[in-house]
Amino acid sequence: MTSQEIRQKFLDFFKSKGHEIVPSAPIVLKDDPTLMFSNSGMTQFKDFFLGYKQPSSLRVADTQKCLRVSGKHNDLDDVGRDTYHHTMFEMLGNWSFGDYFKKEAIEWAWELLTGVYKIPKENIYVTIFEGDASENLDRDQEAYNFWKAHISEDRILNGNKKDNFWEMGEQGPCGPCSEIHIDLRSEEEKAKISGKELVNQDHPQVIEVWNLVFMEFNRKADGSLEKLPKQNVDTGMGFERLCMALQGKSSNYDTDVFTPLIEKVEEISGKKYEGKLEDEKDIAIRVIVDHIRAVAFAIADGQLPSNNGAGYVIRRILRRAIRYGFTFLGQKEPFIYQLVDTLVQQMGEAFPELKKQHHLVQNVIREEENSFLRTLEQGLLMLDAMMNNAENKEISGSKAFELYDTYGFPIDLTALILAEKGFALDEVGFEENLKKQKERSRAAAQTKTDDWVVIREDDETEFIGYDATEGTVRITQYRKVESQKEGTQYQLVFNVTPFYPEGG
Ligand code: SER
Repeated sequence: MTSQEIRQKFLDFFKSKGHEIVPSAPIVLKDDPTLMFSNSGMTQFKDFFLGYKQPSSLRVADTQKCLRVSGKHNDLDDVGRDTYHHTMFEMLGNWSFGDYFKKEAIEWAWELLTGVYKIPKENIYVTIFEGDASENLDRDQEAYNFWKAHISEDRILNGNKKDNFWEMGEQGPCGPCSEIHIDLRSEEEKAKISGKELVNQDHPQVIEVWNLVFMEFNRKADGSLEKLPKQNVDTGMGFERLCMALQGKSSNYDTDVFTPLIEKVEEISGKKYEGKLEDEKDIAIRVIVDHIRAVAFAIADGQLPSNNGAGYVIRRILRRAIRYGFTFLGQKEPFIYQLVDTLVQQMGEAFPELKKQHHLVQNVIREEENSFLRTLEQGLLMLDAMMNNAENKEISGSKAFELYDTYGFPIDLTALILAEKGFALDEVGFEENLKKQKERSRAAAQTKTDDWVVIREDDETEFIGYDATEGTVRITQYRKVESQKEGTQYQLVFNVTPFYPEGG
């Protein structure tokens, strides 16, 4: 089954169970102060769970673009180093907003995995929430009983609060969950050690594919749990992992979600991907094909790389990829933008926004590559010199700040390079330097604005730009603006003008 077929089968299955198929929400969140990016499928439905809004359908399903690079769910450091973590990934999900609950969620998950996708039952383990006394929560006996109808009891495992109580963030909807794990190892390996021992042990071949969350609570700002108005279901299945399981691969990067991108990197760089875990070149290729997806989808959804907030997260991810290409694939010229064509070919059908923004995405990435590559080489030389001169294998905060300020090195990139060479970094010192710089620029940005001086009475500026791009004008008012940053400037108001202000 191709990845496209796998995605479609999921959507068709839930459609047949009365679900409305809805589009993915943007990966970038603009109106949620508690989150920067969609980190799971349920983010767009948060208000339905909380009872603030009514959904058009009580059952929906979709595939959601997710990004886990900051906050409570952050997988960035694992990306490239293992075979199954990603910055951007797709989450297939089905939801019930106060409609069906545990019984159907469990039944349908089982039917889809074993009946439609034909995953052998003997490769599946499930977990249920064991309860937590500190939160006054009981063991999820109900879920246990529903699972018992499908799977032998020795495959139903207890899980603790960390693994089996899902929360969106520090606040928000949450609830006990039941995870489905698949053992993809060979029979020989299974005979040596039971899959049961490897569930939730970070084994690359015994992996969680699907999480069924039974949303019943809201975590409030004071940390307490309150019951939601209704019982809901929120499920999330890792699409790339599912593809790995169904395509008989041992790495997500060997599925057709990633192979076209990897082939493109091979073509550009002339380097062959060998799929080795410890190999720097292979890590670099995995990082690049992972990061391009995160960056491309974020830009397509309107988040340009920038120096703060969500834009800086995107810039950091892209700069990380650029540096991997530079150091380990010898790419001294922009090249990541060239992967956009391949990505659009692969995913433009399922995510039309990518197709629509194809050229914008490409241009923005190329520009970012251009600008970072201008300083990267010098920055790396400087970092080498710092390491050569360092005592105790540690780089000070002020030196890291110099790299950030002069060469555009995000702090996590500096930390990553240092860690590769066994060096530590004074991150606290870096933050202090950053804070001081912010204070300096805030002071510099402060302005003193005088009152308007009226030279001639004229309440409206006439716009002549439809007919002319030049004209003779008179100044009707002016005022003086002084700032440390810009010096003394004058603002002028004319009686006529060809200039048209853009805003909004
Ligand atoms: N919210 C759950 C998760 O992200 C299930 O969708 O794992």
